[in-house]
Amino acid sequence: MKVLVAGGLGYIGSHTCLALSKAGVIPIIYDNLSNASINVLEQLTLISEHNFTFVEGDIRDQQRLEKVMVEHDIQAVFHFAALKAVGESCEQPRRYYDNNVSGSVVLLDAMANAGVKKIIFSSSATVYGDPQYLPLDELHPISATNPYGWTKVMVEQILQDNCQADNDSLAISLRYFNPVGAHPSGLLGESPNGIPNNLMPFIAQTAVGKREFVSVYGNDYDTPDGTGVRDYIHIMDLAKGHVDAFLSHQKDTGFLAYNLGTGQGYSVLDVITAFAESAGKEVPYKLAPRRSGDVACNYADASLAKQKLNWQATLGLSDMTEDTWRWQSKYPQGL
Ligand code: NAD
Ligand code: UD1
Repeated sequence: MKVLVAGGLGYIGSHTCLALSKAGVIPIIYDNLSNASINVLEQLTLISEHNFTFVEGDIRDQQRLEKVMVEHDIQAVFHFAALKAVGESCEQPRRYYDNNVSGSVVLLDAMANAGVKKIIFSSSATVYGDPQYLPLDELHPISATNPYGWTKVMVEQILQDNCQADNDSLAISLRYFNPVGAHPSGLLGESPNGIPNNLMPFIAQTAVGKREFVSVYGNDYDTPDGTGVRDYIHIMDLAKGHVDAFLSHQKDTGFLAYNLGTGQGYSVLDVITAFAESAGKEVPYKLAPRRSGDVACNYADASLAKQKLNWQATLGLSDMTEDTWRWQSKYPQGL
């Protein structure tokens, strides 16, 4: 069975291609290389000893999408293709709505014309906006606090409406908490462009000597040590979650949403401490003011995925920091 993986050379898409391939599902990778290196393809082969089919293309190119879907008899689409920087989305909202929302509509049009009925969509815990209660379950009200977040809310709505209009179609929205870590081989991982916004890549770059210190954004939150608490999930668990979601719903239709998280929160200082242990060196940090838009605490109720998909995270914080360090120290400049 072949599936199209849009955005498949990116951080989460590439790890999911490995998980799909391991499960006997053949991923056809489709990516415009706007935030990925073509070298990822070689790493995928190195790790899996399989060759992967890659088509360079944009999800806003309907003709190309339809051609690939028909040519490969695509059975489902895994949709990772999006821009994802929160700050940038506030500065360039139209670019985000065009790429993430218009792009998704074009992708759905192409799927409709090619007769592809299933889509697995990369959503985010950002669709819960400011948490009204914790842990966050899938019934928590949906909202957003920035244009990037709104693109996720909008695409989820479009997917729901699309399923209403076509009874045969299936859309699974996977709401990721904080994906971190790397492939345990150290051959594949996350390499953000420029200065990382997210905590784990910033810590990793500090440990490897590319940054002087980590700024800890706020130590006066109502959390055990005063720093922000998040639900970090290992990329290998996350990737497996996609395969389990897809395979568990082979015969189903409609719109379904699942949290993919561990249910366990860690503070900024917990992550820095764990990383220092994995790297065998101190990670310098300085306390800094709160970052605007941040909440104190955010973690998942991951029980629905356990119940319906028989999926649960298996890897802990030390796996996340060890694997990130292995990747970061092997490829300090990324691929
Ligand atoms: P990424 O930037 O590494 O991967 C996205 C991939 O999509 C890149 O390879 C990029 O080149 C490609 N792409 C972007 N726009 C495209 C377009 N118009 N046409 C074709 N390809 C395009 O990001 P990631 O971290 O792997 O995220 C994957 C998905 O998961 C995104 O939708 C993101 O919003 C979502 N998500 C990520 C996180 C996270 O923390 N990384 C959290 C929640 C949700
Ligand atoms: C951020 C985005 C979220 C997005 C997610 C994944 C914001 C407000 N939220 O989530 O929408 O889905 O990334 O891309 O941008 N921290 C530091 N120092 C740093 C970096 C982060 O102390 O240099 C702290 C933050 O204050 C937070 C925690 O580390 O408490 C995690 O931050 P981050 O990795 O950026 O993820 P989120 O803010 O949870």
